[in-house]
Amino acid sequence: MTESRYLRIIAAFLYVLAFCCSTASAQDLNTTARFSIESIQSAMASTKLSKVTVKNDPIYNDARMYEGYPLVLVLKTLAVHLQPTAWIRFSCRDGYAPEIPIKKVLDGSAFLAMRSLHKTAEHGWEPMWKDGKQTSPGPAYLVWTLPDEKPEEFPWPYQIVSIEVFSRQRESIMAPREAGEIASKGFGIFAARCLKCHSLNGYGGEMGPELLDPCSVTQYWTSEFLQAYIRKPQSIRAKARMPSNEDLSDGDLRSVLAYLGYLVNHRKNSASDHCPVP
Ligand code: HEC
Repeated sequence: MTESRYLRIIAAFLYVLAFCCSTASAQDLNTTARFSIESIQSAMASTKLSKVTVKNDPIYNDARMYEGYPLVLVLKTLAVHLQPTAWIRFSCRDGYAPEIPIKKVLDGSAFLAMRSLHKTAEHGWEPMWKDGKQTSPGPAYLVWTLPDEKPEEFPWPYQIVSIEVFSRQRESIMAPREAGEIASKGFGIFAARCLKCHSLNGYGGEMGPELLDPCSVTQYWTSEFLQAYIRKPQSIRAKARMPSNEDLSDGDLRSVLAYLGYLVNHRKNSASDHCPVP
């Protein structure tokens, strides 16, 4: 049997285990459970590390081998109730915080790498370059064994410092039906591409600035500049760290702006008007 078939069978077994054997002591579905990497390391201390090979590691653009645990096994060991509608957020040292639906990890294709098995690894990790400085993906790096997955949907966060499991409560930033079709399309794009780095009303990632509270970015930028910036930040600001979105159409960009525009009157501090400029 090939290694990948073997892994697939283990994954299928874990998947069944996840649903059949949750104990009464499992986490309450509505509470957010947050686990630091240190607490995950100690919870997993008596579990044997397994090895995984990934075909196209986006950090090194090549195949790499790691030692760690299938994420579903980690969640199971932490007694997380694997409710299929729950979400997982990976918080990273630099504020990057992608979220994925838990159902994506139940097949065993998500793997929490705890050390690299590459020949140049030092102290467990292979060096990498970030913002001109040498660093490493540790203490934990999420890798995927699925071939050709879309990076938007299957993020590879590194330098993970904590993992949170929660049922999604983002009412404060959702575009309801009355906001119109264009704004809800914009919400979909924002949730998939932007929320991991930007918060709205305090909800979301912290790698980039908050875009809504107390003033909405649409109040102090013109739409033309915003569209150009979102498509290619470096065209407006040299050294911008935000990645380009050159595959977004004009219509996509307009819908993102319609969504942000809709939220102007749904800022959490709009009633008392904390934004100094009306
Ligand atoms: C990988 C993280 C990341 C992603 C993903 C990201 N941004 Fe950003 N964004 C940043 C950072 C960092 C800045 C701060 C300026 C800079 O360095 O580019 C920023 C700045 C901005 C600004 C300017 C804010 C201001 O007040 O000056 C806007 C607007 C913006 N981003 C919108 C978006 C939108 C819309 C998306 C999704 C299509 C998005 N960003 C995706 C990281 C990100």
